[in-house]
Amino acid sequence: MSTPAPIVRTLGDLRAATDGWRRAGETIGVVPTMGALHDGHLSLVAAAKARCDRVIVTIFVNPKQFNNPEDLANYPRTELEDAAKLARFSVDALYVPDADQIYPAHFATTVSVAGLTDVMEGAHRPGHFDGVATVVTKLFLQTSADHAFFGEKDFQQLQVVRRMAADLDIPITVHGCPTIREIDGLAMASRNLLLSDRARTIAPRLHEEMETIAAGIAEGQPFATLQAAAIARLERAGFTQVDYLEIRANDDLSLFDTPNRPARLFAAAWLAGVRLIDNIAI
Ligand code: PAF
Repeated sequence: MSTPAPIVRTLGDLRAATDGWRRAGETIGVVPTMGALHDGHLSLVAAAKARCDRVIVTIFVNPKQFNNPEDLANYPRTELEDAAKLARFSVDALYVPDADQIYPAHFATTVSVAGLTDVMEGAHRPGHFDGVATVVTKLFLQTSADHAFFGEKDFQQLQVVRRMAADLDIPITVHGCPTIREIDGLAMASRNLLLSDRARTIAPRLHEEMETIAAGIAEGQPFATLQAAAIARLERAGFTQVDYLEIRANDDLSLFDTPNRPARLFAAAWLAGVRLIDNIAI
């Protein structure tokens, strides 16, 4: 049986629901999203349903995390389709706040996480993580959730959110869930909708090259050689720019060539005007 999720647009209505759930001693899970839901998001919803009594999915295209106005304007917005995709999960609320519920007039606070945000997405998208940390803090406090679910596809974001919640003593457990991929290996992402048909056929090359590097590392080949060859092949395939392709530690995202503790290979690259990011365990 599928039940359409009740759509909630104001903090007052959200609190009316969560106050009742709290009084009944129920646990609350939140899945923060910017909409354009795909199977990756739905896997987070399934994880939340399995862990929590009540589940809130949020959809808010957060202007503060876009460093490029064109990117914000082009970001896919598909609320009706999103609500339909959620119906089979019978979530307890779909929180789609009006902009003033998140950023009321005179809003003047920024949550900024140092260190983890200096590299990769933080270095290439100035202000991005301040926007993410600020909105996620608000969503954690507004929903008063006990558990939050994020995809490992945005691994740096996951670590930034974990640090922020711990530093601010927000009583929430942040769960990282595995990246969900298309059959050809492309990591699912809302921005994939922006790829042309031709670019969509090239896009899986990013993940393929990452797997090639991982195999080379396992055989003991030097990372610098593997990295240079992969970038050259990506550029020949049609990628216009590789922003980064590097190995970093899971915990503090520090850079190294030869992993000596749990680490991941991280990549961001441009294809036909769309920026793709991905990461895999090494
Ligand atoms: O990953 C996203 O979709 C966004 O960065 C998030 C966590 C919903 C904050 O706007």
